[in-house]
Amino acid sequence: MSRISEKIRYVGVNDLSKVIFEGMWPLPFGVSYNSYLVVDEKVALIDTAEAGFAPEYLDNIRRELCGRKIDYLVINHMEPDHSSLISMIREEYPQVRIVGNAKTVPMIKGYHGIADNIHVVKDGDSISLGESTLTFYMTPMVHWPETMMTYFNEEKTLFSGDAFGTFGAVEGTVLDSGAVLAGRTDSRTDTFEAFRDEMRRYYSNIVGKFGQTVQAALKKLSGLEISRICSTHGPVWEKFIPQVVSCYDRLSRYEAEKGVCIVYGSMYGNTAGAAKALAAELAKRGVPHVLHNLCTENVSYAYRDVFLYDTLAVGSPTYNNDIFPPVGNFMRGVCARLVKNRKFVAFGSYTWAGASVKLLNEMAAGLGFSLISEGLSFPQAFSSEKCDMEALADRICSEVSPC
Ligand code: FEO
Repeated sequence: MSRISEKIRYVGVNDLSKVIFEGMWPLPFGVSYNSYLVVDEKVALIDTAEAGFAPEYLDNIRRELCGRKIDYLVINHMEPDHSSLISMIREEYPQVRIVGNAKTVPMIKGYHGIADNIHVVKDGDSISLGESTLTFYMTPMVHWPETMMTYFNEEKTLFSGDAFGTFGAVEGTVLDSGAVLAGRTDSRTDTFEAFRDEMRRYYSNIVGKFGQTVQAALKKLSGLEISRICSTHGPVWEKFIPQVVSCYDRLSRYEAEKGVCIVYGSMYGNTAGAAKALAAELAKRGVPHVLHNLCTENVSYAYRDVFLYDTLAVGSPTYNNDIFPPVGNFMRGVCARLVKNRKFVAFGSYTWAGASVKLLNEMAAGLGFSLISEGLSFPQAFSSEKCDMEALADRICSEVSPC
């Protein structure tokens, strides 16, 4: 369904072919690149789509416009998943006036070589399409410096860019009253529940570093009455706006549920043995937990659950007198995302000299994490005698939840 309201039409596309987003993040359910038309006496197109979808995207626009022209192309965000088709739109509709802010202008020039017929807007500026008014709010670093949001005053609709977006292509209707996560047909879950894990993964992977600026944007938008959120990824939110805004608010405050995210890498199974033993002890005590092996899965899922639980347990063998590289990469990502307010414990095996636990503790301390213990560094093979996971689970349990 392309008609969101009489004046708002969905012209986005689903990408079920791309395997890895931004060259890093898996897409088991695909992703959507959302774009919208606002049709009045004048016509505005809000953002575009990914380069590989030019014919389908153009067909969507032509079908809705029935020969009418586009007057304005509003660029809320210049990341190429939304801006790749600016040149094509300019070729198809040569009169179109591009609307962006001062930070957008050099990016359009750099990516597309376009420097003319650009209408530069500032925070709070508006354009009229006839009976419809679009007002622009600068929301830098949600997700890039040029990001802004567009508010359709008369319909209380926020075109939010990446904010409130999710991974996962959208099937059925794009509206959250009936949208279905691609490849999932479980009708027992509502749309927010169906997309929630992919929303958290999207936020933690893509936007996770920018909690402070997301909070600033939420504060700026708090005075607006919003009855519809049209993000660039995932469903159009109407019914579940309170849940979606609350989810983004909690994520950007780094608020987490009680539970343990266990993340580890292992060369020969010894650090893995410790990780699995910890998981088993937590399970016995009824402590919520997840287990991520960085040697067999993409780090994307570990980041998702770093944002889910309030305790992080990280296992790494010592490798070249350092942290095992997959775990070091993960921890650098945790640092880059400026994660806050977590309890932390490290563990790992070594053969002749232990370094990983000490180094992991230093990284955690740099983030202000509270260390549950000095960590468990053990020589050679894992055993319960060398590495007392029962005691560690008791300690975690006393902090995380009553056992
Ligand atoms: Fe979906 Fe930051 O682009």
